[in-house]
Formats: sequence, structure tokens, C-alpha cells
Amino acid sequence: MGENNKYVKRISLSLPPQLVEKFDMVARRKTYWNRSKAVGDALREWISQNEWREGRMRVGVISILYNHETRGVVDRITEIQHRFGASIIASTHVHLSRDECLEVIVAKGKNIPKIANSLSSLRGVKRCNLTPIS
Ligand code: NI
Repeated sequence: MGENNKYVKRISLSLPPQLVEKFDMVARRKTYWNRSKAVGDALREWISQNEWREGRMRVGVISILYNHETRGVVDRITEIQHRFGASIIASTHVHLSRDECLEVIVAKGKNIPKIANSLSSLRGVKRCNLTPIS
């Protein structure tokens, strides 16, 4: 997207073998048949994550998986969303199982990483993903 794919540049890298093994394992699970393609996608993701950290983000989706029975976690999540109310466009809640909840938050602007970091560090939050949209 937005890149000229007609030309490729060959590079060679020196990496710890365990890292390469792990990378290939994940790439295989994601059914990449081409390591270059997998590395390219990983680099693109790394670049956009960092552009985010530098405050060049527009819209992103934060999804958190948490155990609502963990003491205080629901209040903390609500508190964070109120604190960053001006940056949050929408949020939705799914009761996944007896104790697991999924919350998907659509946010805009430079506070997105701050919101994600505050949420991911909460006790009871098992997973926190940040997906850059634009
Ligand atoms: Ni729930």
C-alpha cells in the first residue's frame, strides 16, 4: 500500500538462530510461504507501531481481554476511559465467558498509546492489543 512493489532491495541480516526459528514458526502458523514477505509485514507493523509512539497516529483500535472478577479491574478500566473520554470514539463490551470480558475501544489522536499502556498494565488484564487503523 502506497509502496512501490516493483522493486525489491536485497539485504542480509545477522540474527540469533533462536529468533529466526521462532520467527519462522510464527510465519508458518500464519501460513506465509515466503520469509521475505513475512519479514516485510513484520517491519511494516514495527514501523507503524513506532510512528504511533511518536504521536503520528490518527485512529486505532485497542482490544483488551480481562477477568472481570479481578478486584478493581472494571472500575480502573472505566476510570481510564473517562479520563481519556475526548480521545475515545466508541467502545463495546463482550461477555466472552463466565469470567472473561473483551472490550474493544476505538480511539483517536496522540493519546492512543497512553490509553493502551494504562490498560495493559492493569492487574486482571490478560491481553491488550493495539491495532493501528490509520
Ligand atoms: Ni463482561
